[in-house]
Amino acid sequence: FNKQHFTTELVQWFLREQRQLPWRETKNPYHIWISEIMLQQTRVDTVIPYYQRFTERFPTPHDLASADQSEVLKYWEGLGYYSRVKNLQIAVQEVVEKYDGIVPDEKERFESLRGVGPYTTGAVLSIAYGHPEPAVDGNVMRVLSRVLGIYDDIAAPKTRKVFEAAVHELIDHADPSSFNQGLMELGAMVCTPKSPMCGLCPVNDVCFAYDRSVQAELPVKTKK
Ligand code: ADE
Repeated sequence: FNKQHFTTELVQWFLREQRQLPWRETKNPYHIWISEIMLQQTRVDTVIPYYQRFTERFPTPHDLASADQSEVLKYWEGLGYYSRVKNLQIAVQEVVEKYDGIVPDEKERFESLRGVGPYTTGAVLSIAYGHPEPAVDGNVMRVLSRVLGIYDDIAAPKTRKVFEAAVHELIDHADPSSFNQGLMELGAMVCTPKSPMCGLCPVNDVCFAYDRSVQAELPVKTKK
């Protein structure tokens, strides 16, 4: 397995083939954060108009921090999982009070905010700030389990660490944002759960699962 080849091909493919999405037009960490919270339980096509309206009405942390919760909820209406936005507003209020409205770029500080877990931390720090941190979600675990032949059960909480370690080994230090988003995009567009389009995959030549035709058995996921 040639790490350098994998990383280069993934990043080049992402830069060439990525979908144009509104949160990919910005490096604003607060806007990236909003997009990642919305995308956690909602699909891209649904999120787009909500993201547009939300960032237009609450363009800065101060705007969200000072708004009435009832109005904030109206801008989330239809997305569901309303604790996401209640927690986001609380976290942003803390950012305004403790950090003068600057989203912290330090892992421990960002991750200790309300509603922020390891995935959101890695996504915001890598995409907005260019830090080489893993952002491991279900898509990323699917891609890496197939490419690397990782048979750990992705339903087991401790397995995330296995994939985070793999990302630390592979990430492009020159462009962590494109590397992490390349993994997400490959999982969304090519390395899909059913019938992955391996003929279109930029890293099929180094893929464990493609080589052995075991795409269908990876990732391993026991019923919880
Ligand atoms: N899903 C999670 N994060 C995403 C992103 N930044 N772009 C597209 N889909 C995503």
